[in-house]
Amino acid sequence: MKNFTCVQDIGSLKVALDEAFEIKKDRFKYVELGKNKTLMMIFFNSSLRTRLSTQKAAMNLGMNVIVLDINQGAWKLETERGVIMDGDKPEHLLEAIPVMGCYCDIIGVRSFAQFENRDYDYEEVVLNQFIKYSGRPVFSMEAATRHPLQSFADLITIEEYKKTKLPKVVMSWAPHPRPLPQAVPNSFAEWMNATDYEFVITHPEGYELAPEFVGNARVEYDQMKAFEGADFIYAKNWAAYSGDNYGKILSKDREWTIGDRQMGMTNNAYFMHCLPVRRNMIVTDDVIESSQSIVIPEAANREISATVVLKRMLQAL
Ligand code: CP
Repeated sequence: MKNFTCVQDIGSLKVALDEAFEIKKDRFKYVELGKNKTLMMIFFNSSLRTRLSTQKAAMNLGMNVIVLDINQGAWKLETERGVIMDGDKPEHLLEAIPVMGCYCDIIGVRSFAQFENRDYDYEEVVLNQFIKYSGRPVFSMEAATRHPLQSFADLITIEEYKKTKLPKVVMSWAPHPRPLPQAVPNSFAEWMNATDYEFVITHPEGYELAPEFVGNARVEYDQMKAFEGADFIYAKNWAAYSGDNYGKILSKDREWTIGDRQMGMTNNAYFMHCLPVRRNMIVTDDVIESSQSIVIPEAANREISATVVLKRMLQAL
């Protein structure tokens, strides 16, 4: 695997899951693979889980790791070509990226949607510049439209906890005080649509995701109806995608906050969220602290998904 930015890059989900469970049994099995290889992790946005789990994954594989927070100590970077650089950004990505490529073997990039221009975000300009100009294999640590390491960890978690071969998985919008990108819900939908699970998306009207991510999922505007018989509830907020509302908050309706009322409609469903989560906005204290909450094992599986991805990238060097 050269680059990893979306579900197609992982190939067969069954093979990927087999590798994940192999690594989970012995996460240091491939510790020789990364000897004298360097991972560079570039963060344009904050992180807790991605940063720690990906670094741990690289250490499992015997790699050296360099982490750069672009907004803390690095030169501010211009990302658009053609601008006259007379402002506060002294370096352009088009020089910075190949320079970064000189010091490493693999690059991970986190670069969120900016919500200024939908086309710019959905073209994944920053991620694609790394792919084009770094001269190195590149993987997404959450880009503008997808978060594949998270979705892979989510899939591993569902496979570990499911009680039926093809569970009903419901992704529910929930309220949040700030506008959040669609990367996590887009990506989760993309990965769920690649399985044979029953997959339902529920959200208030106006929060429709891009059609290419919704795919064949059932969209249900009645949250309680969507939750009926669910085996897994995947909660997430996202800002509007459609037209002039792109990046806007259309609702903060706490009737959508996931609590006992909604979970009572389910088949004793497990509760999932990628974290960080705003308690009593997205989910009540009672639900996230319940025995059905699997947010911590879900986060733990980030190390496993990252180890599989880095292992494959090392094998392809
Ligand atoms: N879920 C996730 O990606 O967490 P961080 O933003 O903390 O990395």
